[in-house]
This record gives sequence, structure tokens and C-alpha cells, in this order.
Amino acid sequence: MAVPFVADWDLVQTLGEGAYGEVQLAVNRRTEEAVAVKIVDMKRAADCPENIKKEICINKMLNHENVVRFYGHRREGATQYLFLEYCSGGELFDRIEPDVGMPEAEARRFFQQLIAGVVYLHSIGITHRDIKPENLLLDERDNLKISDFGLATVFKHNGRERRLNKMCGTLPYVAPELLRRADFRAEPVDVWACGIVLTAMLAGELPWDQPSDNCQEYSDWKEKKTYLSPWKKIDSAPLALLHKILAESPAARITVADIGKDRWYSRPAKRGGERAGGDSPGGGKRGRSETGSETLSEEKASYSTSQPEPGTGAALWDGGPAAIDKLVQGISFSQPACAEHMLVNSQLLGTPGSSQSPWQRLVKRMTRFFTKLDADCSYRTLREVCEKMGYGWKKSCTNQVTVSTTDRRNNKLIFKVNLVEMESKILVDFRLSKGDGLEFKRHFLKIKAKLGDVVSAHKVWVPPS
Ligand code: ADE
Repeated sequence: MAVPFVADWDLVQTLGEGAYGEVQLAVNRRTEEAVAVKIVDMKRAADCPENIKKEICINKMLNHENVVRFYGHRREGATQYLFLEYCSGGELFDRIEPDVGMPEAEARRFFQQLIAGVVYLHSIGITHRDIKPENLLLDERDNLKISDFGLATVFKHNGRERRLNKMCGTLPYVAPELLRRADFRAEPVDVWACGIVLTAMLAGELPWDQPSDNCQEYSDWKEKKTYLSPWKKIDSAPLALLHKILAESPAARITVADIGKDRWYSRPAKRGGERAGGDSPGGGKRGRSETGSETLSEEKASYSTSQPEPGTGAALWDGGPAAIDKLVQGISFSQPACAEHMLVNSQLLGTPGSSQSPWQRLVKRMTRFFTKLDADCSYRTLREVCEKMGYGWKKSCTNQVTVSTTDRRNNKLIFKVNLVEMESKILVDFRLSKGDGLEFKRHFLKIKAKLGDVVSAHKVWVPPS
């Protein structure tokens, strides 16, 4: 018997965007299954067809609990659709409070899951090459998933290792040998990036712009000046591990196997679970934020629909609910180009096809707050604050606002702001579009502080302190 609406998927929210195109959240109208759809426009870059083929090929090899599941792909003209596990917990960087970090026990748990994912990838001969908090997603139970294999490559095949020579990654996370040597081993480069992620989780800042001798912060680290930031905020046990990971020589750098034997890494979790509290943020050395900034608190729970149950082999998964098979075989998105139409314009909220409540459409994110004002006043006040702060402000025809500025490293920072009416209140939702994730949060906190008591105290969820 034909199941009505089985192939009806709504694209309900933009989850992310990049040079390749964007990632949308697709929800099945009938089953409420949720999947992330990476939409790649192959016309955008000349070498794109090859890159996307490689990304798909690598995704088909993957099957691990700490790696985003791949359900399949589909090509329509010059557009490739990749169907991926939806991670409703959002990005790891969103759990890092700028200049503070997160509780040490939480950082250790995320780090253990990151290393488990990297051990797996290396065991099948894959290197990710762009490990950073923006590429580490969280599921509904806060389990970490390595995401985005757009830069990944094979470094080992039939037991034979090949050295790499292509410079890729993100400068603050790249290992020093990548900037210095004609070729280098793949595994130590991923290990280094994991060390920078751990530093960001424990201190809420990146240690340097790039690991080169003309960068003062990097020279200070090599001279073991750990009385300086960010190191002074980090407890001696995790700092000892960071010394082993952020070793300049890749030959001297700790391996993923040996990270597993580290004293801090293998410390047992507190009874009652890792998030039982008791740890001060970032370890024993510090308390509140040096900047006096408030802790970012979650304003809304995650999307509440079901996740498809992947089969044992994630590659071209075909053993589950029919709806995803249909999605892979021939999608019928009901609102292809209008994912942001649910925004501020409250008349649009009742548009046919919006069968879920706006609450259900939000990925977990801490960069949002409720206001005490109506939609028009919220919009005007936010615009005034942003313009006073010298930010660029542009409103699209769908009422999405693009805010642009430069960060303290003089890099471009662009974020999108959506105003969503929810239960008669206005939620102001910020999403990073381009730039550094930690800088984005610093700017978010500044805007929120400038809005003062326009921001409502209403919170749905507060993280453990
Ligand atoms: N952003 C990019 N990929 C995503 C995914 N798989 N789930 C949630 N958000 C994402």
C-alpha cells in the first residue's frame, strides 16, 4: 500500500553554509525523521566535480559512532545532494565560552570522543585535514561527531603510507611542519589540530594565528612560557598532555594510541556521569571569565523529531525507514528555496507546509535570546545597536539579516540573524556565516550586552555551571 507523503520532505532550516553551498535540515512530514542535506553546486568551482566525488567516496567508507553518518547521495543536474546524519546538538564551538572554555570534565569527554573518531579514521587510512570545533557536531545526547570530509584524503592504502604535500586546513589549527616542509606525515597533523581544539575547550581562545616563528605567541609556547594565556588557565594535568601534542617536531609528537594512555585523558569520569558538575570551568586554575562576560546559556532545546536508525554499514545505508530511501532516490522537497521564510514576518508562520511548530525547527544553539519587545521593535533596536557598533547591516527579502564586521585579527566576520516568533515572544537567533567561531561568540555577547534589558530573562535550558 502506498504510504501518503512518504517522500515529502521539507527543508526547514539552514544549518550551515560554506564555499561549496549549504547544509539544510530536511524533515519528513509524515515520519518526522530529520536529516542534514549538504547541497553542493558543482558549477561554483572548476575542480568541484572531482572534490565532491572524493567527498562522497570517502563518506561511503565511514562507519563509526563519532563520525557523522552518511545515508547516500543524489545528483540533479549540476547539484549534488549529500544526505547526512542530523546532529541536533549543534557545533562544538557553540559550547565554548569565549575566553573561558567549558568545564574540564566536559572537555575531556568531548576530547575522548574526538580521539576515538580520529583513531577510527586513521585505522581506515583516512585523514580529515580540517579538524576544528566548527567541524565537530553534537547529537541529541551530546555525543561528538566528526563532520565535513570535503578536505579529507587517503593517506594509507594496503598498509602503505603516503606522505602529503598539499597545504590545507585552517591556519590556527594547522601543524607547523605543514607551513615549513615540502611533505609531511598525515597523522601527526590531525593530532596537532586535536590539541588546538583541546586548548580552545579549556581556555576559550586559540593560542596563535599560526604556528610559525614570526608569531610571538607560538615562540612563547616553545619557550614554555606557560604563565601566559591561554596556558595559565589550564590545569597542570591537561597542560602536560598539551605539551606532548603541541610538540613542534612531528616525530616527537604523541600518537593517538599514546594519547589513550595519558594520565589526564584516561582519568575516570566522576561518579554520576561526566556532567555531574563540581568542576570549575576549564579546570582548577580559574573561575569566571576574565572579561566578565556572562556564560552563554542555551535558549531552546533541540529539534525533537526522530533520527533515522542507520543500518550496520553506514555506507549507502539502505536498511531503514522508507522515507530516507525515497529521499536518496528522488527527493521531493516541498519548499526548496524558501527555508528561511518562517522568519520574522509573522504572517508567514502559518504558511501551508509549516506543519511543525517553530520550536521544533531549531538546532541547538547558544547564540540566541528572547526579547521583551514585539518583532518590529526588536528588529529596530537590534539594527540601531549594530549600526552604532559600526557593523554592516543588510536585510534580505526573506527578512534574514546579514551582519558583517572584522574581528580582532582583522579577519572578515559575517553572521546571519533571524527573528522568529515563538509562543508570542521574539527569539533573536544568530548563526555564523563566515569567520572564526570564537570571535563570532565574542561579538554576539557584546551585542547582547548592548541590548541591555531588551533581552528577556526567559531561558528554557541552562547549562550546568
Ligand atoms: N551542519 C552541518 N552539517 C550538519 C549536520 N549533519 N547536522 C547538523 N548541523 C549541521
